[in-house]
Amino acid sequence: MVRDAVKVGLLGLGTVGAGVMKILQINSEQIRSRAGINIEVKKILVRDLKKPRAVEVESSLLTTNVTEILEDPEIDVVIELMGGLAARVHVEEALRRKKYVITANKDLMATAGASLLRLARDNGRNIYYEASVGGGIPLIRPLKHSLGANKILRLVGIINGTTNYILTRMDLENMEFNDALAEAQARGFAEQNPENDLEGKDAAYKLSILAGLAFNSQIHFDTVNVEGISNLKQRDILYARELGFTIKLLAIGEERADGLTLRVHPALVPLTHPLAGVLYENNALYVEGNAVGEVMFYGPGAGALPTGSSVVADLIDVARTINHHVENGIIEIAFHDKKVVPLEELESAFYLRLLAEDQSGVFAGLANAFSEEMVSLDMIIQKRSREGEAEIVLVTHAEKEKSFNAALASIQKFSGIKAVKSVYRVIRK
Ligand SMILES: NC(=O)c1ccc[n+]([C@@H]2O[C@H](COP(=O)([O-])OP(=O)(O)OC[C@H]3O[C@@H](n4cnc5c(N)ncnc54)[C@H](OP(=O)(O)O)[C@@H]3O)[C@@H](O)[C@H]2O)c1
Repeated sequence: MVRDAVKVGLLGLGTVGAGVMKILQINSEQIRSRAGINIEVKKILVRDLKKPRAVEVESSLLTTNVTEILEDPEIDVVIELMGGLAARVHVEEALRRKKYVITANKDLMATAGASLLRLARDNGRNIYYEASVGGGIPLIRPLKHSLGANKILRLVGIINGTTNYILTRMDLENMEFNDALAEAQARGFAEQNPENDLEGKDAAYKLSILAGLAFNSQIHFDTVNVEGISNLKQRDILYARELGFTIKLLAIGEERADGLTLRVHPALVPLTHPLAGVLYENNALYVEGNAVGEVMFYGPGAGALPTGSSVVADLIDVARTINHHVENGIIEIAFHDKKVVPLEELESAFYLRLLAEDQSGVFAGLANAFSEEMVSLDMIIQKRSREGEAEIVLVTHAEKEKSFNAALASIQKFSGIKAVKSVYRVIRK
């Protein structure tokens, strides 16, 4: 059958949906020539037909009835940009009806990706999800294709723009957490309910997707250790900087001999590390492969046009596949289910801020408690003394987390220590 266009049904015309439509409008000629065929958006699902849109579209394209898309045999591709887990039934139905699927939905791909990819394979189709991690930064395709010759050893990413914006404002402009959050909300970098971002869940979804590809394993989202930034104090960022570090919310995945480690947490990063220079809403992923060495991907992690750019790139791939009967996508179903190493088995260095009695013997007592658990100190400094109270900041060398936790418990029983104010991991490379 000779066709004149690849026909698309769009689910959602919000931030990303409008970005996709805009790109299809402004770059139509180039997209047509790259795809080798016209691309036509036939229907767009929305909740509210009367809502003003950020892009001009003919009102006849809009519908509130999803079956007009899913049951239309002419529609070859469904682009899911509704968000949330409720979109799953539509994605499944689209695949069963032999439509290709493109999605930006990290929640869905992190929690149901493996089963959706299997369904796609069983129906001779594929799911493309470049936009689900890192907005406009190409990450999925490089992990699937360009770095395919490597055993990936480690991924370290700043993959949540909201928290990176807040941390950058706290660091460079000495803002307190709540002020930086309010500013992020006012500028559209944080949602009105930012809990998923602040508590690290959004980054954990994205890490699950990346780690699945990098380590060729099915990742169960609940095995990712997650800690957010909402308790972070400007004081800790200030002290970190004095010690030669900045604080970032990192997503880290590693493959070790005994299994995978998967975690999202704030950490002190040396100011000389490439990730320390990733500022404001930008994202980056640092990848270590056994052949390529170290590579870093950097750019805008969200936004209408950057995210739309990834979606439309997927659409061009799908259009080529349909037009030339050549499969570019490669279904990357992970056949392994690798063991995840518990956090306490990892080796980490720690930053600790304590309030102590301002009296002799406290430093010695602290050093003893750490040495009894075989944790050695890298730096220890007294930051200020006031009314008999001293603030002590210390950084340990890397030791088993189990040993550090035991040392921490014994310090808390020590009479000279009034409170443990903060504990953060430190990464050196
Ligand atoms: N925003 C970003 O920068 C970004 C970056 C990367 C990935 N993503 C992902 O992209 C997806 C879309 O995000 P977004 O920011 O574009 O969301 P959004 O602005 O909230 O847009 C969602 C769209 O879906 C429609 N919709 C939602 N539920 C619906 C339902 N039950 N029935 C019919 N229509 C429904 C909405 O219709 P109405 O407009 O009529 O309400 C709206 O047009 C999410 O999975 C998100 O995680 C977003």
